[in-house]
Amino acid sequence: MSKAIIAFTPEGKKGDVSVGETVLDGANRLGVDISAVCGGRGICGKCRVVVESGRELLGPVSSLEFISISDEELRRGYRLACCAALVGIGTVKINVPSQSRVGQQRLLVAGIQTKVPLNPAVRKYTVKLAKPTVASPLSDVEILLNALADQEKLRRVRVGYEALVRLPHSKGREDGVATVTMREGELIWVDPHDSSARNFGLAVDVGSTKLAAYLLDLNTGEVITSASSLNPQIAFGEDIISRITYASSSDNNLKRLQGVVIARINRLLHDMCGQAHVDPNEVVDAVIVGNTVMHHICLGITPEFLGRSPYAPVVRSAVNLQSRNIGLRMCPGAYVHSLPIIAGFVGADAVADVISTQINDLDVPAVLIDIGTNTEIVISDGRKLIACSCASGPAFEGGHIEHGMRAELGAIEEVYIDPYNLEPGYRTVGGAAPRGICGSGIVDAVASMLKCGIIRTDGVIVSDLSSPRIRRRNGVAEYILVHKEDTTMARDIVVTQDDIREIQLAKAAIFTGTSILMSRLGLRAADIEQIFLAGAFGTYVDPLSALTIGLYPEVSVDRIRFVGNAAGSGARMALLSVDVRLKAEEIAEHIEYVELATDKDFQHEFAQAMYFPHKEPSRFPMTAEKLKKRVSRRGPA
Ligand code: FES
Repeated sequence: MSKAIIAFTPEGKKGDVSVGETVLDGANRLGVDISAVCGGRGICGKCRVVVESGRELLGPVSSLEFISISDEELRRGYRLACCAALVGIGTVKINVPSQSRVGQQRLLVAGIQTKVPLNPAVRKYTVKLAKPTVASPLSDVEILLNALADQEKLRRVRVGYEALVRLPHSKGREDGVATVTMREGELIWVDPHDSSARNFGLAVDVGSTKLAAYLLDLNTGEVITSASSLNPQIAFGEDIISRITYASSSDNNLKRLQGVVIARINRLLHDMCGQAHVDPNEVVDAVIVGNTVMHHICLGITPEFLGRSPYAPVVRSAVNLQSRNIGLRMCPGAYVHSLPIIAGFVGADAVADVISTQINDLDVPAVLIDIGTNTEIVISDGRKLIACSCASGPAFEGGHIEHGMRAELGAIEEVYIDPYNLEPGYRTVGGAAPRGICGSGIVDAVASMLKCGIIRTDGVIVSDLSSPRIRRRNGVAEYILVHKEDTTMARDIVVTQDDIREIQLAKAAIFTGTSILMSRLGLRAADIEQIFLAGAFGTYVDPLSALTIGLYPEVSVDRIRFVGNAAGSGARMALLSVDVRLKAEEIAEHIEYVELATDKDFQHEFAQAMYFPHKEPSRFPMTAEKLKKRVSRRGPA
């Protein structure tokens, strides 16, 4: 049988395919990971690839591909891997974009890796100490400072209290060697031996919902290990407004909120140290980032005034304090650095996002959206940065959704619906029996329902469609995604009218924020060169489904870049370099903050953005074109 050669980028895997086989067949044989939720039936549209060369060796574009791929994308070489079959002999080169992969997206949760030249705030120096003599009875401090001046040329050193208390332990040893830990001119710790090879730091991103912690080697810049956990403050209120209310009602409540989050960070640190065979006392520096409310609570500062107009924070600049002041259990002399914040609702996490994506250094228009319960948006027109935050709620994390759950084992993470018979297909996290729907799954489900005409552009379920999957329960319409027999629960997993309303509210908040910032800078969707999507949801979501519902302005999907936990990445960069900390101060000072609630267009924009993808189809021309094709397959909507 005639063979062609297929080569996949970026992994560089290459092999033979027979004429008549599809690109998906070749990928499967070579172990290239391509998402194919509908099993290669051309319905889900998840297996999109880009043909880099050898287009003439593939068969003509099928009618199924015309439905999933816009004319512009077809011109740029997009095909469905399950539909594009080899018809000629030669070499065809295929690029698999990250959004068409299954495993790749999971790895990205760690966040964008931006290299930074190593210049940590904390350094270790090992020196030989002279012995005091009767003729020259110098104090321990004098002996140590003399050694630092002579051997390391360090002068005018301040000795911290913790190091002072520790100092007597480092004398009397035969070899007379001590290692001092220095932070910006202050001696913060002394070890009575050579510990210079063991220099560790902690970076933490404190989200309203989730904590992410990283243990780094400050000598090499390597991440040794990482850990994450839910933010235990959730027990005191799901959103930041309820946390403000709780913390503001008494000093004890503030202490309680601070205590639970610091205790959880200590546990994460303890676990990471256990894994890496590091003593927590060897962790000599820390950087914490978080939204403004999390920032204040972590530092023990009341967030009371963040809840009242004009929503002014207590402090905007970076804060350096001794870690023991907030109860962190690490080296007793260590400090914790908190990155600066921008405004009442745009915090140090947004600054960290900017640092790691380097959106501030781009000379083209770009958008950064960090999706969480509270979503931060930063936009650059290539010269200036402006930012806002919006209350997008927990829907994209599975909250307030009838069968919503986090992206854990058994969560439905991908969905497609056959437009002919309205039967669904899905994929769950870990391939386990379905237990619920996570954020990416609910967005896929809503996008598929829209494409199949199960919901109208105003979000209303068309309940008189003839399908056993659509029913009314207690007078409310819903779509049955999984029958109870196929779940681990005793009830059907459904997408209800209320779930769709939650998604409308969440996506309208994010789109409105983005749209208002863009109009302040005079930008149109066509001007945007890059959209950075940050946050766990932003990592897992199918960008096409997100575009179909109108989550962000319509740009070609190859301009979307998933950056995972970009705030955590920024925190790590600040841990590794004082230059990054200085840059962060500069960025925070120059970003213009926009208060959305006072914008005259807010109400109108929000109402329009409640439609899928938008009330004004000309704002989403490619998506509107695709939706028209879908609906016309089933007849008029
Ligand atoms: S696998 Fe190709 S469209 Fe579903």
